[in-house]
Amino acid sequence: MIRIAIDGPGGAGKSSLAKAVAKELGIIYVDTGALYRSIGLYMVKNGISPSDKEAVIAALPDLTLEMKFEDGRQIILLCGEDVGDSIRTPEISMAASTVSAIKEVREYLLETQRSIAENNSVIMDGRDIGTVILPRAEVKIFLTASPEARAKRRFAELTAKGIETTYEDVLREMEERDKNDSTREISPCVQAEDATLLDNSDLTAEQTVKAVIKIVKKEIKRRKKKGSALYMFLRAIVSPIYRFFARVHVSGKENIPKDGGYILCANHLGVNDIFLLGTTYPRQIHFLAKKEWFSVPVLSSVMRALGAIELDRGGRDVGALRNAVDKVNDGGVIAIFPQGHRFPGENPADTPIKSGISLIAYHSKAKVIPVCIKVKNFKYRLFRRIDIIYGKPISFDELGFKNGGYGEFKKAAEIAFDAVCTLGGYEKTPVPENGSEE
Ligand code: DC
Repeated sequence: MIRIAIDGPGGAGKSSLAKAVAKELGIIYVDTGALYRSIGLYMVKNGISPSDKEAVIAALPDLTLEMKFEDGRQIILLCGEDVGDSIRTPEISMAASTVSAIKEVREYLLETQRSIAENNSVIMDGRDIGTVILPRAEVKIFLTASPEARAKRRFAELTAKGIETTYEDVLREMEERDKNDSTREISPCVQAEDATLLDNSDLTAEQTVKAVIKIVKKEIKRRKKKGSALYMFLRAIVSPIYRFFARVHVSGKENIPKDGGYILCANHLGVNDIFLLGTTYPRQIHFLAKKEWFSVPVLSSVMRALGAIELDRGGRDVGALRNAVDKVNDGGVIAIFPQGHRFPGENPADTPIKSGISLIAYHSKAKVIPVCIKVKNFKYRLFRRIDIIYGKPISFDELGFKNGGYGEFKKAAEIAFDAVCTLGGYEKTPVPENGSEE
């Protein structure tokens, strides 16, 4: 799955670019501006001034907005009726810009936009896609051009549609809208930190499409890479050794996503866990390793080359957490053992856990994949059967995050680790009652 976010001011050519890229890659194009335009249209049609904030908010429950896709074409049904081109007039452009500055309007449209990208590869254009709607989009482009170049294009577009206007009016309206969209308090149109800036003032539409396809293809290729050459080489050597000395059985493989950044959450029985996960998981896993290992000559270089993340187990290692978040945001897979250290011989459901995993999940918004390593008597022995069971990915919402408080982190770690225990069929051992039995 790939999610491409195209943000930028009006008239930069986002929609024609997105349409062309969607066609080339066979993915869905979502025009989010059309949603704001439809709300603007509803207000204008019903005699509600788009700048009357209270009235706009009060009208929201009365309207229904549905987004459908037919032959790759987006259709918006406003109160059951296809809005068609009626949302493309200069009056509705301005109304859309005005209503889009209202927090409640943006909240109203948030889920519609996010849900479509949840299960589909999409290219979505708008103002806040890379910053708010899809902060984890794999490709982010901020497309812009000088106001004059954009006004010239928009003027040609409108005249072609038979809409009467002048270049001066279009330029004035465009500058006003730019100011509205980029200075509003909530979700202003700004470039995401990790977006690529593309100024197409001097590029043709074809050149712009080519430039973006090149960026997207490079990203797709990078994401298809399963891991560094050294990691995959060592994995190939170590795998048969593990297969010889243990009867490793992997189940739930269908729960392993093919690409994208994820957090594996596992129980910890022994050092073998790292090798067992590493040799059976199809992609490179970045493990967190205690910092002492990084001070051993040769070993430290190997660890770094394998993509391990240095962790100071003495306290709350903010640097390690940040590195882990970066790895996941960059499309990598990291493994976390919430128990903090090895617990051989103990029922995982009875051991204490740490909340570091929640911090990484909260800041990366990545899904957590529970994985249970199960072996008889919780002890590794030669030739014993070892089960590695992968569970369904747990989403940000399922982890129960809201404001990111301490209690939420504790609870989220429990949710993730409970899922691990459930996979292995482990339950908390009931605490014997202290009643005085005679
Ligand atoms: O992209 P467009 O010109 O169709 O957008 C119409 C208006 O909607 C634009 O002036 C700002 C607003 N908009 C927004 O605030 N956020 C988006 N993601 C998309 C559009």
